[in-house]
Amino acid sequence: MSIDDIKCILVVGAGQMGAQIAMQAALHGYPVILNDLSPDILAKGMNGNRAQLDKRVAKGQMTQAQMDEAVGRITLEPDLEKGARRADFVIEAIVERLEPKRECFARLDAFCPAQAILVSNSSTLMISQIATATKRAAQCANMHWFYPPLVMRLVEVVKGKETSEETVGLVAALTKKIGREPVILRKELPGFLVNRVLRALAGEAYDLLEQGVASFADIDKAVELGLNHPMGPFKLADFSGLDIGYHARLEAYAVTRDPKDLPPVALEKRVKRGDLGRKTGKGFYDYSTVPPTPTQD
Ligand SMILES: NC(=O)c1ccc[n+]([C@@H]2O[C@H](COP(=O)([O-])OP(=O)(O)OC[C@H]3O[C@@H](n4cnc5c(N)ncnc54)[C@H](O)[C@@H]3O)[C@@H](O)[C@H]2O)c1
Repeated sequence: MSIDDIKCILVVGAGQMGAQIAMQAALHGYPVILNDLSPDILAKGMNGNRAQLDKRVAKGQMTQAQMDEAVGRITLEPDLEKGARRADFVIEAIVERLEPKRECFARLDAFCPAQAILVSNSSTLMISQIATATKRAAQCANMHWFYPPLVMRLVEVVKGKETSEETVGLVAALTKKIGREPVILRKELPGFLVNRVLRALAGEAYDLLEQGVASFADIDKAVELGLNHPMGPFKLADFSGLDIGYHARLEAYAVTRDPKDLPPVALEKRVKRGDLGRKTGKGFYDYSTVPPTPTQD
């Protein structure tokens, strides 16, 4: 298969990541099928995309006609089988848990054309853990985007144990064609590049918080003003969704059994309360105020 054989992209999962990934591909001319569990979720995902593009139109970065054309390239399809039958390239962006992802890949394998490539946007799960649910492991890879996909330029392309060179090349080529910059990991490992570096930073930040050395707001301030990061680790956790970090740590712990990989108390408490960060209006910070205010435990 060559890059020109990729004519239709299916994105599975229309949440924070999937809806915008679909939009990014459509903005670069690809017909995209967007799948999720219900028409309501799909509509919500597309409303979010329209709100983002409305801002671009208002700023003169694109015309209304360009926006309408790009939005029109996305077909909402709650029936996975129907969408998969037409797809040459599938990006899975469903919940960050191994079993649902394996089940999703097994269904995609059954429904997609034989040459189709299947990639996962998982933040931490390695493709070899997922691809064994299919009979096409050579055509499976990680394609890891960053939030928000309509803004963040980096995509990590990860070669799994059985991923072919051809697949890695195609995923990297497609990444460029849809306006993103790939980095290639020739070996898979949990957390890839960026999240491993981030985990080291966030782990230290949670440790300092748990030791009572400083408040999370002051740790954020220190990282922002001292290291010139645009957001401290707690603001970034809120931005990405606290449940994402929480589940990623539980998955890491299931593999390593190292207590250091368990979710920190301050994170667990908030996730169990349903305070998942910006998307629910509250996480480490309360977003009902301007500027957001630090929450209490
Ligand atoms: N949020 C981030 O910052 C971020 C960054 C990079 C990668 N990721 C990864 O992207 C994936 C999605 O994350 P998200 O933040 O968009 O999560 P999300 O919870 O916002 O969205 C997940 C969506 O998947 C849907 N879904 C669940 N099971 C499904 C199934 N079987 N078929 C179809 N749809 C299904 C849900 O209804 C939901 O709309 C995860 O693997 C996550 O690790 C997230």
